[in-house]
Amino acid sequence: MKAAPVLLVLALAACEKRQPVSHIPRGEAVRLARESAQDAFARLSGELAKAIENGGPVAAIPICSAKARPLVAEVASRRQLGLRRLSDRPRNPQQQAGGKDLATIESFRAAIRNGSAPEPTVEEMPDGTTLVRLPITVSQPLCLQCHGTDADISEETRAAIRKLYPDDQATGYRLNDLRGIWQVTLSPDDAP
Ligand code: HEC
Repeated sequence: MKAAPVLLVLALAACEKRQPVSHIPRGEAVRLARESAQDAFARLSGELAKAIENGGPVAAIPICSAKARPLVAEVASRRQLGLRRLSDRPRNPQQQAGGKDLATIESFRAAIRNGSAPEPTVEEMPDGTTLVRLPITVSQPLCLQCHGTDADISEETRAAIRKLYPDDQATGYRLNDLRGIWQVTLSPDDAP
């Protein structure tokens, strides 16, 4: 019965060989993720600035509500990758972070508390995709008009938010606080 262990070893070796999963190189993944997040952020900011200029934050909320997700989806489809905004305290409940996303938010927040800049994280999945998570901070005073404390948000703006997002959790932030993350999903063929 000496053959049994040998067969087992051969079977395991064959098993290992069957799945040569290759991922996009890590440095390239971070570069592409950063570029895509910046692209989407620029589009969102542009849309937001235009809407605020035309009618203040109150008018900008329904516009933001209708356009934010399609705009992010458009950038994702143009670049052929996955792109999502997530938060531990979301405005839109569809953008609630859980699992690894939530853990990453907590680690980014700890980094900020310790006075260091949160660095993107890279997670290689068994199916060959790579998930990159990047911090989203309250980078401009503008954000506070809709995500700040009671002193920053006007009564009308608060009412407009409540109407569209009765379960809103996305207020009470201060400048430079962590607001959430970009979650970028890349496949091996995203490598140039
Ligand atoms: C005019 C009001 C307004 C301003 C100003 C604003 N936001 Fe938002 N924000 C919203 C609304 C409305 C949503 C929900 C959009 C949706 O339904 O996807 C949102 C959603 C988000 C989300 C997605 C997670 C979630 O909570 O659903 C992030 C992240 C975010 N905002 C960050 C920012 C940052 C950073 C700034 C400043 C650069 C900013 N926002 C400025 C209104 C605003």
